[in-house]
Amino acid sequence: MDKPIGWGASVRHNSEDGVAGLRHDGLPSCAALPGTVAPFHARQFADDVFEIRCHVRPLASGFGASLSRHPGIGGGGSCAVIPKESRRAARACVRDSYEMHARACAPDNFYAQVKHTVAGTPVSPEQIAMIVQSVRSGLSLEAADRVLDLCCGNGALTTEFFAACGGGLGVDFCETLITVANRHFVRRPQEAFRLQDVVDYARNADDTAGFTKAVCHGGFQYLPPADAQELLELLRQRFVEVKRVFLGNLPDKRRIDAFFGDRDRVAGIENDSASPLGIWRTEDEIHSLSAKTGWTATILPMNARYYAAHYRYDVLLKRR
Ligand SMILES: C[S@@+](CC[C@H](N)C(=O)[O-])C[C@H]1O[C@@H](n2cnc3c(N)ncnc32)[C@H](O)[C@@H]1O
Repeated sequence: MDKPIGWGASVRHNSEDGVAGLRHDGLPSCAALPGTVAPFHARQFADDVFEIRCHVRPLASGFGASLSRHPGIGGGGSCAVIPKESRRAARACVRDSYEMHARACAPDNFYAQVKHTVAGTPVSPEQIAMIVQSVRSGLSLEAADRVLDLCCGNGALTTEFFAACGGGLGVDFCETLITVANRHFVRRPQEAFRLQDVVDYARNADDTAGFTKAVCHGGFQYLPPADAQELLELLRQRFVEVKRVFLGNLPDKRRIDAFFGDRDRVAGIENDSASPLGIWRTEDEIHSLSAKTGWTATILPMNARYYAAHYRYDVLLKRR
């Protein structure tokens, strides 16, 4: 069955067992029968696709019990709504892992909080200076620019970008990191940090005018593929004055062995946005994603002394 069987008003993930809760009154046209599997689109989360699996076994409590009373399901059966290709669930997984990590770090250990570390130790100020320099020069930051920093983390790098221009906005969905950003890294009234998922922000923001450059350093790889594509499309369409976008620190699929070496790795890890390093892409994949979304990509050489230069690269996007 490849047609959605209904539209739900409310779907809630239960992170423990991957089963989502669902208000059965949101499923007026549910036609699933016990033993069938069907995709289900949640109206609230247009970017999620769930599978409804109908079982003959009634679930004991909660939404399962209430669903089993639904006339469309009937027969005492029950339903599990399982995230199949859930972009939101994948993003939530990344957010939770950054949240846990940031909380475990000392409040002033800024570069450990955003994982600029080697074997757990924060990298040197020289290494950070290389990142700052690559973004500033890639974007050709000038005093008149306003920068949108997507996946800005705790703002420790953002403040260096803002210092080279007229300020801007940093967006990140990790509450601990945005709290640090607001506490330590707002230097001028024209600088701000906002707690939000970057895809939600790009979809809904009403302050899109005025940004002239955008950066996503060390964050783009954590977006599920459909989100990565949508984000680039939204930047192209809704942020009309943004002329350049810097995608930084992307893991290079062609050089994945240089990172893992002999260490075991989970099959398919390079395609999993919720894995520790996110999605690994080849330069060709970045070129084709950019072209599809209205951008021209240039792969930027990294400083050979940069600690991750052997398996990462930077990209500059310009409007096609
Ligand atoms: C490696 S850190 C990089 C932080 C900062 N840009 C830097 O380079 O120091 C990755 C950041 O991406 C953020 N992130 C990942 N996916 C996101 C999303 N969908 N919306 C907002 N932030 C996201 C995480 O919370 C985390 O702060």
